[in-house]
Amino acid sequence: MGSVTTYSIEAANKFIRDSKHLVRQDYRLTYHLMAEYGWMNDPNGFVHYNGEYHLFYQHYPYKPVWGPMHWGHAVSRDLVHWTYRPVALAPDTAFDRGGCFSGSAIEKDGKLVLMYTGHVVTGPDNNQDYKQSQGLAISENGIDFEKYEGNPVIGYDEIPAGVSVKDFRDPKVFERNGNYYVVLGSNDAKGNGLVLLYRSEDLKQWTFVNVLAKSDGTLGDNWECPDLFPLGDKDIFMLSPQRMPAQGEQYRNLHSTMYMIGSFDPEAGTFASERNAQVDHGFDFYAPQSTVDHLGRRIVIGWMDMWETAMPTQEGHHWAGAMSLPREAILDGDRILFQPIEEIKAARHNAFEQSGISLDGIFGMPVTGDSYELEVEFEAGDALAFGLKLRVDDAGKEETVLTYLVEEGLLCLNRDRSGIGPGGERRAAVPLKSGKLALRIFVDKSSVEVFAGDGEVVMTARIYPAPESQGIRLFSKGAAYVRQLKKWDIR
Ligand code: FRU
Repeated sequence: MGSVTTYSIEAANKFIRDSKHLVRQDYRLTYHLMAEYGWMNDPNGFVHYNGEYHLFYQHYPYKPVWGPMHWGHAVSRDLVHWTYRPVALAPDTAFDRGGCFSGSAIEKDGKLVLMYTGHVVTGPDNNQDYKQSQGLAISENGIDFEKYEGNPVIGYDEIPAGVSVKDFRDPKVFERNGNYYVVLGSNDAKGNGLVLLYRSEDLKQWTFVNVLAKSDGTLGDNWECPDLFPLGDKDIFMLSPQRMPAQGEQYRNLHSTMYMIGSFDPEAGTFASERNAQVDHGFDFYAPQSTVDHLGRRIVIGWMDMWETAMPTQEGHHWAGAMSLPREAILDGDRILFQPIEEIKAARHNAFEQSGISLDGIFGMPVTGDSYELEVEFEAGDALAFGLKLRVDDAGKEETVLTYLVEEGLLCLNRDRSGIGPGGERRAAVPLKSGKLALRIFVDKSSVEVFAGDGEVVMTARIYPAPESQGIRLFSKGAAYVRQLKKWDIR
């Protein structure tokens, strides 16, 4: 189709309807959310509303590349199976004509209110010349949204001194002590990411409270997609720092995700951080957003990709971008455990189980697949290393390798031979528990997510193996033991 100059929800929905038959299936995921057609990035407006989970997402429906942002929309009752709803927002007003950027959702008086960033381009350089402000869109039925005529509700003229005049985005709105609050990502225009806090009684009139937190020079030059929520008896500040410098094996992607555990003082607008850690230790996890559901669970979902990384489905497949598996965040002392949502167990089919495997070298499993869960417990024994090879072809050339280095106490995810996507290795410290390592691994057509232990470390990666590469192998260097391995197809 030609160039689209005027965007509307109707045009977007019609285009998707007319084009979705073109989408190639090879790498389409079985149990992860993707755009029906075109491009997807950040999760937006994650909320449980009127008996369903709603998940919106950054969406350019016309091509599998980033473009003027719309909000795609899907709903689910179990966080595993999703149904598409019409596009919720298009960049069709003066305030958001350059894009409806990331934001969040909250229920007010039975209505579903979205708060998001209106992006406008102000000069010839798209990457430099822009302004951002915050607006609302309101729905009575959770499907059709009307933009508030008073947008913006926080204009770029309300950015405090000492803060970037252009990076001002990704409102995450929440209620605390009878007030609404919103956190917004920005930087100090000198290379330090920061987050701003505003307060409101009605979601329409907002007052700046404080700079809630700021990088000390080591935590990235701009902060995107901030989130602030209570967990157990603590408060969690979750953020996506851009260009954060690596710390040893950690924070090795272009952009990172981090959580800080501490306490939030809404009156003063301060966050006292006690400890911080990486949310996900793999390659492809960014801009996570959380919601608390009707069961009181805090659920986190992220964009399962990374900026400026090759995405093989952009050529000829008509889609790009996916969401991670939703994860339940559980406070455990001074850390967060991220566990696959319980509902995934109801999507298990074709159970397979094998116990007591003595490993010394390579061991081929009699089961294969491209959309499954593995639950495996290793005993390190005398081995120097042990692990699994996933998505292996018959020749053993294509493989995605998960290795545990016993001496180093490191879990390593290597995708150098994973197919046509980008390669590389990520490593994370995972101590053995009484000499054992428990893993839950979720493989989908073009992804792998590894949950170690009780979820103290999660590693996520997109991989693009050939469809026929479906083998599963165990291996060790030296004698190790697999107490038990279980596998289920996930549908
Ligand atoms: C994060 C992000 C957000 C922005 C959106 C634009 O991935 O850069 O800061 O709102 O994507 O699509």
